[in-house]
Amino acid sequence: MTFDDPRVQAVFEGYQARLETDAATMRALGPEGFARRDEFLLPVGLEAAWFLHSLIVARAPKRILELGTSYGYSTLFLADAARKVGAQLVTMELADYKQAHAREQLEAAGLADVVDFRCGDALDLLAQDPGPWDFVLVDLWKELYQPCFDLFYPKLSDEAVLCSDNMIEPAAARPSVRKYREAVRAKADMQTALLPIGQGIELSVKWNAGNAKL
Ligand SMILES: C[S@@+](CC[C@H](N)C(=O)[O-])C[C@H]1O[C@@H](n2cnc3c(N)ncnc32)[C@H](O)[C@@H]1O
Repeated sequence: MTFDDPRVQAVFEGYQARLETDAATMRALGPEGFARRDEFLLPVGLEAAWFLHSLIVARAPKRILELGTSYGYSTLFLADAARKVGAQLVTMELADYKQAHAREQLEAAGLADVVDFRCGDALDLLAQDPGPWDFVLVDLWKELYQPCFDLFYPKLSDEAVLCSDNMIEPAAARPSVRKYREAVRAKADMQTALLPIGQGIELSVKWNAGNAKL
C-alpha cells in the first residue's frame, strides 16, 4: 500500500530506509541493543500501522491519543488517517529529542497541523487532559500500559477503540502486558480481543450494554 499524498509517502520511505539500518545495527549489538533502545525507531511495524490507519478511516474518531510518539513512525500513519476523517491527534512522548524529530518529519509530510505534540511523562500529561478520547494507541514502555490505562479509561468516549501494541512480542514484555490485559478485561464495559497483527495488537472497544438496541 502507498499513501495517496506524495509528501507523506516520501517521509514514509525515509522511515523505511532508517528501519533497515536500525535492524542491521540491532543485530550487530545483540543483547546490548536493549540498553541502547532509545536510538531506534522501535515502530509498530507496517502491518499494524496500516491496520491502525484503516480502523481510524473506518470509525472516524474525533479525538485520537497516541502514547509513545518515539521518532514518529506510527504518528505518520495516525496523522494521515486523522486528516482524512477530520480528527485531531494528541501524541505523548517522554524524550524531547525523539519528539522533535517526529515533529520535523510530520512537518515535511504536511501533517503537523493535525498533531498536538505533548512532551513529558505520559502519566502526568494524561492526568492533565480532560478527554474524551475516541481512539487510543498504547505503545510506550510496557510497564506503563496498565497505569496509563487506569488514567485514560474514565475519559474514553462510548464506543472508543483502544489498540495496544507488543501484546505477543517481545517475550520479555509479557508480564507487563498481561497486567494491562487483566486490567482491561476487569472492566465490564470493555470488549477485547488479541489479534496476531505485527507484534500482537489487543483491540478493545468500550461498549455500554445499556446503549444496545436489541
Ligand atoms: C515502542 S516506542 C514507540 C514507537 C512508536 N509508537 C512507533 O510506532 O513509531 C515507545 C516510546 O515510549 C516512550 N516512553 C517511555 N516512557 C514514557 C513515558 N513515561 N511517557 C511518555 N513516553 C514514554 C519512549 O521514549 C519510546 O519512544
